[in-house]
Amino acid sequence: MKEKLHIVPHRHQVNRQTRELKNGHRAATLWFTGFSGSGKSTLANQVEQALAGKGYRTYILDGDNIRTGINKDLDFSESGRVENIRRIAEVAKLMNDAGLVVLTAFISPFTKDRQQARTIIGEESFMEIHVDCPLEVCEQRDVKGLYEKARKGLISNFTGIDSPFEVPEKPELKVSTHLEDLESCTDKIIHYIIPRISTNE
Ligand code: ADX
Repeated sequence: MKEKLHIVPHRHQVNRQTRELKNGHRAATLWFTGFSGSGKSTLANQVEQALAGKGYRTYILDGDNIRTGINKDLDFSESGRVENIRRIAEVAKLMNDAGLVVLTAFISPFTKDRQQARTIIGEESFMEIHVDCPLEVCEQRDVKGLYEKARKGLISNFTGIDSPFEVPEKPELKVSTHLEDLESCTDKIIHYIIPRISTNE
């Protein structure tokens, strides 16, 4: 068994509430989940632009960026993905504490990991957005050419090919990028989020 660590967190005077008041809006995490190529990063980018344009303070945490930095020691095995999502959730929590609206774009294929992220970040701050798009369409788009490589066996554990994606059962929001265009998906998310991060209720 692990040795108990004797840690007593300090309560700082300048806290999340202070920062939210100063920003004029609440902090939150928009957790985008879906297949590679479903449109998570594109959508997160559009939503961020719309929010930033309205004066909201935002930050994007994105799979390919995080995996070349803080998480570059992790692979795509099940344990690598579990730790990837845990660290991202902890970072998002810190950023929420800093008063930011965080947008995360990770496949996050496992239900229990998304649930753990919800627990770490807190139910009231966590909004799961399922970026829905059938695997066949993502594979046809193949923006990064990775599906072709996965089919040829050049990449293993590729989500949708030889690694599962567990479809979110009750996401706060679902957008279908094969049915609606980028603008309409973005609008839907903006309409959902703004009342929830607004302080004038
Ligand atoms: S997650 O499953 O751990 O949430 P994450 O979102 O960080 O994945 O990274 C996914 C991105 O890494 C994909 O968009 C793709 O560009 C790249 N990638 C490389 N190898 C794999 C793989 N085996 N499965 C899925 N994505 C991969």
